[in-house]
Formats: sequence, structure tokens, C-alpha cells
Amino acid sequence: MRYEELQKLLESLTIKEKIGQLIQLSGDFFGEHEMKTGPQAKLGIESWVSENVGSVLNVIGAKQVRLIQKKHLEKSKIPLLFMADILYGYKTIYPIPLAFASSWDPDLIEEAYKNIAKETSPAGVHVTFSPMVDVVRDARWGRSMESTGEDPLLNSRFAKAMVRGFQGDFIPGESLISCVKHFAAYGAPESGREYNTVDMSRGRLVQDYLPPYKAAIEAGAKMVMTSFNTIEGVPATANKWLLQDVLREKWGFEGLVISDYAAVQELVTHGYSENQKEATIAAFAAGLDIDMKSPCYANNLESLLVDGRISEDKLNSSVMKVLKMKNDLGLFEDPYIGIVDDTDSDSADFEEIKVNAQKVAEKSIVLLKNDKGVLPIKKGTKVALMGPYADNKDLIGAWAIHSNSSSIKTLKTVFESELDQQHFKWAEGCELLSDYKVLGEFGWETNFNSILKRSAEAELKKSIELAQWADVVVFAIGEHMLQSGEGGSRTDLTVPDIQKEWLDTVLEHTKKSVVLLFNGRPLVLNDIVKKVDSVLECWFPGTEGAQAIYNLVTGKVNFSGRLTMSFPSSVGQIPIYYSNFSTGRPSKGSSRSGRFVSRYLDASNEPLYQFGYGLSYSVVKYHHLSLSSNTMKAGDSIQVHLELENIGDREVDEIVQLYIHDISASVVRPVKELKDFKKILLSPKERKNVSFSITEQMLNFVDSSLEYIIEPGEFEVLVGPSSRTEDLKTLKFRYM
Ligand code: BGC
Repeated sequence: MRYEELQKLLESLTIKEKIGQLIQLSGDFFGEHEMKTGPQAKLGIESWVSENVGSVLNVIGAKQVRLIQKKHLEKSKIPLLFMADILYGYKTIYPIPLAFASSWDPDLIEEAYKNIAKETSPAGVHVTFSPMVDVVRDARWGRSMESTGEDPLLNSRFAKAMVRGFQGDFIPGESLISCVKHFAAYGAPESGREYNTVDMSRGRLVQDYLPPYKAAIEAGAKMVMTSFNTIEGVPATANKWLLQDVLREKWGFEGLVISDYAAVQELVTHGYSENQKEATIAAFAAGLDIDMKSPCYANNLESLLVDGRISEDKLNSSVMKVLKMKNDLGLFEDPYIGIVDDTDSDSADFEEIKVNAQKVAEKSIVLLKNDKGVLPIKKGTKVALMGPYADNKDLIGAWAIHSNSSSIKTLKTVFESELDQQHFKWAEGCELLSDYKVLGEFGWETNFNSILKRSAEAELKKSIELAQWADVVVFAIGEHMLQSGEGGSRTDLTVPDIQKEWLDTVLEHTKKSVVLLFNGRPLVLNDIVKKVDSVLECWFPGTEGAQAIYNLVTGKVNFSGRLTMSFPSSVGQIPIYYSNFSTGRPSKGSSRSGRFVSRYLDASNEPLYQFGYGLSYSVVKYHHLSLSSNTMKAGDSIQVHLELENIGDREVDEIVQLYIHDISASVVRPVKELKDFKKILLSPKERKNVSFSITEQMLNFVDSSLEYIIEPGEFEVLVGPSSRTEDLKTLKFRYM
């Protein structure tokens, strides 16, 4: 449809038809033959709303989408948009974002997201509520798993990659429109508690938390979702400064803004709006186009229009954005465009996507410890695999809601198919949790209240026998998959006690031990790490994760993953992140000593594992760090050179990290900030030269008027394999 025709269509719509476009309802409103009245009554809306609704939430599957669209078009002339949470896979599940971030490989992730779109789009989805690009520095927050970590630069690079992967050169049936979320700073709830207040200086917000959203928009994301939290006391969903001044005016965003689930209605609960009518005006005036799953726009926009509190022009402008998206998709010409009818069956697997998902998993898993050369496990070794994740398909993380579970291979299945009976035995070992009720209510029926499945004593006995038999015991332990994800905040970040106690007993009978960890956030691991020989952070590695783990522990492929979120050594250190400020009394390097420096009496300031950390089967040395000049003039750039040497006998992908420290500035700068990184493939014993360019943009920062500036002065360049001070080589230069 040409623009003029679209304009005509808009003019032909009644007010109710227009308002409908700004409302999103979930799948339970749509029956096979008619709209369901139960959900309407529950939400408190009338039937005209469902008949005129503009978009549908989380309905997926060619048959279902086709049916709902067909029924809808019997009453409406405007096709529906189908939007869903496709976060890291539809049927084939990739590693969770916090995992694949450890690849430090945005190109690989762009390809992965292209695959995800390819698998999803034929099932009728138009828009995905992804990427989630929130910066997270508090592992108590369960949604850490959905983020790519603590760093603005890394999150921005991944944000771009994911949006490009989803949208590409948009092809219906192969691509998805990307909705970036949760705008803004949803990853910084106080105390790590889900949905809690966010409060930080504007300087920090602009410098550290906003860049990934901006990056997603620059990459072309056509939609933005507001976050549940407040910023400076104003909920993001009604925050004019965020939605107007920053998003629309400063960044020039012209796409659609949607609320998070029921967030408009929750403006009342927040204590921001007195009632739903006021909530409607607050959100709409702030620039929120679509109200997801709340009765506010449905029940109030019309009367607000009649009262003259909102203008029809403003209404038209939001409606036009929705119509435009539908038109760009080609829905007016073919409301079923892109749908492929035989994609619903679980057997409709995309083999090449699985291969890619396995590759991503191999790059996502981080080797945290490998003493006594336990890994790789050599041929002929007797291996016992045990633990609650030994034969468990919950390897996919809390947001993989449409996965094809029949195709998930467990560790046991993979190990059994690779090793013969003389060399492999396994046991479930123990329960994941001693009480599954801790996982809370989900609003749907769960079997968490079921009694424990196994006899603890018999399992322990079997575990000990296997440990005595084996040369190496591989323990597959971790959090329950639903201990992270939305509503998954925790205050205790250790592996559940029931598993630790079992592990302690079995370790007494174990010759060599490898721990495979499955979790959706950084855990506090001090006690476990001390007791075992080798530790792998496997996260939730996805459908193909078990094979990837097997390939890594047996040395078929080398490790290359590096952490993108610091692992605290105690919960009391949180929030903890590598780009902290120096303070006037730093614990190291201050003129003071003893008590009166910035430190804890009972713990180190350092995390257990730093941002950027990860081992491999090779060791790479960093030599001859040099700068092309020790001064840099305005408008200029300088080069950093170094030589890498793989002293190991395995090929390795080395992630070289470049940090910069602005030694003094009118707004104090962090002790180091990641400014660039490169992944360098090194053959055994190979030496390679690597260079980075230091540009002016890498030296700028947000001043007190929220503008980026650069100040002359001394800067430190730090290069190495992690953000850990002892891993970094340092040089200085002066910017003039
Ligand atoms: C989550 C969003 C999600 C939405 C729709 C909300 O509870 O915060 O991330 O996109 O539900 O399912």
C-alpha cells in the first residue's frame, strides 16, 4: 500500500478501530471459533476491544496464527500483528544470552539470530521481544540470564548483532522485527529484587546503561519496550524524559513504543497515577504507543479524546506507526505472508541450525579451573557422570518456552553414545532442590509440589560406588532452571545445599573431579572451586549443549569462552563489576594502609572470577606492547601493537581485550573501561601481531550536562586476556 492509501485507511477508521490498534492482547482471548469472554471479563474490557485489537502476544505456530488471523479478518479490515518472546531460540534453543556473550563474538551471534528468525518466522511471528540489552551488575537478579552482561560496550556490540540477525534485509518468512527492551535500566533494580526501583545518577544512566538500547536502535530495531521500573521516581512507561527527550528527540527513534506486560495499569500500583484514566494519559502523553495486556487504553482513550485531554492528531500518529509496520510487512496484501504450514510439527527441525547452536554452545562454555591436567579426559579413562543435570533436559533456560524438547539431548545420552560401557557409568546422584516450592507460583499448574523423586540414600550409595570405580567423576550440578529468569531473584547465590552436601560426601571417594555448572547467573562458588580439580561454567547451553560439553571436556574442541559478568566471592560484594571507580582511598595504591581504605574487613574486594576471565587448553603469552606514539593530538588516533604467542600445542581462539583508564577527569572515570577486543585464532606455537586503533571516541565520557566530551590529559592503555589487573600489560599516553 502506498503512503496515501495508508493515510486514507487511517481516515476511514472509527475511534474504536483506531484505539484497537494500540492494544495488545494475549492468546487466551482468541478462541477457535470466537473471542473468549472469560479473559475479557477478567481484564475488564468489552468485546469491541478484542474485535478491533491490533496485535497478539505470544501466539505462535502456523496453524494457530492462520486461524486467529482468518477469524479476525471476518470482522476487521486490518490484519493482526503477532508478537512473541523469542529470546534465544524457537524450537532449537541456543545458549542463554549470558552464556553466548562469553563467546565475545558478535558476528557468530548475528548468524545465530538470523537462524533463530529463520526458524520462527514461518510459524507466523512478526515481531520478537528481543534483544534484551539491559546492563546487569547484580547477580541476584534472575534476569541476568537474559542479558549479555555488565559492560556497555560489549552489550552494545551484541545488541547490534542480534538486531541485524533478526531483521537483516527483511524477508517475510525468514526475518523478524526486533523490539529492544527493557527501556531503561531494568537491569539495575535495587537489591537485585525483580521489579524493584531503579535509582542512579543521570550521568551513570547515560554513560553505562543507555548505550546498548541506542546501539540496537542504530542497528535498525523498529520497536522499543519500556521497563517496569521507575527512573528518578517516574515509571519508565510514563517517563517523558526517557520516551520523548532521549528516545525520540535525541536519538531520533521513529518506531513503535510498547509497554511491558500490564505496565500501564501498574502505574496506579506504583503510586504514580491515581487511577487507570490518569495512568492512560500519563503513558500516552509520555509517548507510549501500545498498551500490552492492560485495560487502560481500551477503557480510557476515547473519553480522554472527547474531554480534549489528548488530541486526535497524537492518536493518529501512534496508529499510523502500527499501520505502517503492518504495511511494511506486506500484511495488507497477504495477511498470511511468510507462514509455512508444515513448520508446526516437532519433527520440522532445521538441522543446520542445530549445528550452529552447537558451535555457539562450544564458544559459550567457560573453563574456570583445570588443575592436575584433569581435562581433557583422555581415551581409555573410566568416567562416571552424576548429578541432577546428568540426565536432565532442563538445559535450555527459563525463557525457552516453545522449545522442541524431544530433540534435546541430555549429557547421559551423549556420553553413552560416545563412550563404551567399560568406560562410562552414570547416576542421578541427588535432587536439584530439597524443596521445589521455593520456585514459587507461576500462575499455571506446576508439579513442583510433588514429593522428591529419588531415595537420597540409595542414590548416594550408588554415587559412591561409581566414584570408587571411576578415574574421573564428572558432576553435573547447579541451579534449577527456574531459579533464574523473570521473578527469579535470589539472595543466596550458592549451589543448593542438598547438592553441595552430596558432592562433599562423594568427593571423599573421588580420584579426579570435574564440575559442570548449570545456572542462569554468576554464582558464589568459593567452596566448590576449592574442593574440585576442574570447573566448567556451562550456563544453560541449549538444545545442543550436551554435545558441546562432551566435545570440550574430551578436548575435541578447545575452550575460548570468557566471562562477561563478574563472579562475586560473596553476595555482600554485590553490585560488583570490573569498571569500578578508584575512590580517594583505594585498597591498593593509596598512601594509607590498614583499616582506613576502601575494603571489607571480612572479604577481598576482588570477585572470585573477573569479567573477561576464562581458561583454555593453551596458554597465550602477550609480548612487546607498544604505542605508535606517546601523545595523541585532537582529531588524531594512535595505534597499539602487541605480539601474541601460543605456547601451547592446541589451536586456540584468544580474546584480546583493550581497556582504557582516563587517569584524571572532571567527572571521575572508572579504573578501566573496555574499549575494544579482538578474537585471534592461533595455531600451536604460532606468534601473531595484533593492533588496535585508539580513537578519540574511546576517550570521551559523559559530563555533568550529559554531553560526551574529551579532556586533555594522561590515559592508561591496558591490554590482556581478562580485566584482572595481573593479566594486563599497561602503557601511558597523553591526549592533547
Ligand atoms: C517481560 C517481558 C516480556 C513480556 C511479554 C514481561 O513479563 O518482562 O520481557 O517480553 O512479559 O511476554
